Amino acid sequence: MTMGCPRSTTLVAALLYLAYYLRCCVKDLAVRSPAVGALAANRMPAYLYRSNNDTKLLAHLARAATAGADEPAFLAPACAAGPPSFNELVKARMARDRRPVLAALTDKQLVKRWAELRGVRTPEVLFASKTCAVPEIGADAYAFKATHTTGCLVLVEGGRVVGHKPCGERRLAPGSRVTPELLATLCARWTRTMYDVTQWAYSKLTPGVVAERLVYRTDGATPADDVKCFAFRGRTALVQHVTHRFDAASGRPRGARKRDTFHDPRSGRRLPVAVDRQPAGAGLAPARVRQARDVCDGLARGLDFARIDLFDAGASFFLGEVTVYPKRGEHAFEPSAVDGELGRAWCRQGNATR
Ligand SMILES: *[C@@H]1O[C@H](CO)[C@@H](O)[C@H](O)[C@H]1NC(C)=O
Repeated sequence: MTMGCPRSTTLVAALLYLAYYLRCCVKDLAVRSPAVGALAANRMPAYLYRSNNDTKLLAHLARAATAGADEPAFLAPACAAGPPSFNELVKARMARDRRPVLAALTDKQLVKRWAELRGVRTPEVLFASKTCAVPEIGADAYAFKATHTTGCLVLVEGGRVVGHKPCGERRLAPGSRVTPELLATLCARWTRTMYDVTQWAYSKLTPGVVAERLVYRTDGATPADDVKCFAFRGRTALVQHVTHRFDAASGRPRGARKRDTFHDPRSGRRLPVAVDRQPAGAGLAPARVRQARDVCDGLARGLDFARIDLFDAGASFFLGEVTVYPKRGEHAFEPSAVDGELGRAWCRQGNATR
């Protein structure tokens, strides 16, 4: 039996959700009141995680990997309500879709099991901890990240910080030394609170951290680019190739050199599409896009929608993460019709087995 009182936990969660949704209207109050300010920063006490259970989530994940996930109840009415919008469907999923498999896929450690079941490699885990016990890692290049939330990521090469996506803490200067004590401190901070109460899937996870070896291209020196597939029932509808995710000088994500290039998954050719005003780059060779698509299709099988985030290691692809709420339904697509096209792909039935 778990400790605590589920009913009061639910009540506290409901109040925090309410406070979150009201925060736009109480911004002035938030400045004056530390309590409301804490809520506005999406902080939620860790005891609300207490009844979460990785073993149960893994069982849901294994079932969905074999039989496919259940069709979500929210989808048919949302699709019937008007012309489908991808962003609106992401928001509807956040508000109403409560399938445990979404939570399992969101966990950055549990999702590795999904990849394993589908025969796709994942980056090597140097260590994982739920208790912030951090060993000495040495000179390996790795990403140190929270498994239970978004952001909260430090990239380390040769024992020094090369990138940092903070989630509330002060930014680490690039080149600063990484010690087990520093990582333990970050872990303690990251696992103490829940960061975004609107993204339901995160609220079902058990806080933890993982350090995984960075993936390089076959030359062993160039970091792997990201390839992200918007995939619906095992069918990739759009491929996004991302380079220079972190700025080398500042260590910040979304640096001036970051490029987001979109491709048609069938032909592999570039598409005149942009998201969130990011400039396009050279993109990938069409044959490589089609290879990524095949890997994504396999990983997305049995899921109404998932964004499959791969690393392009040159000779193979690794699964990085599965994203179930891309940009929380706030992507600015250009042309804007892409939002409708992706929405229609999500609403289209019957392509579950391909
Ligand atoms: C999690 O669930 C499993 C299976 O239902 C159970 O055996 C286990 O004791 C639970 N773990 C915790 C920490 O509650």
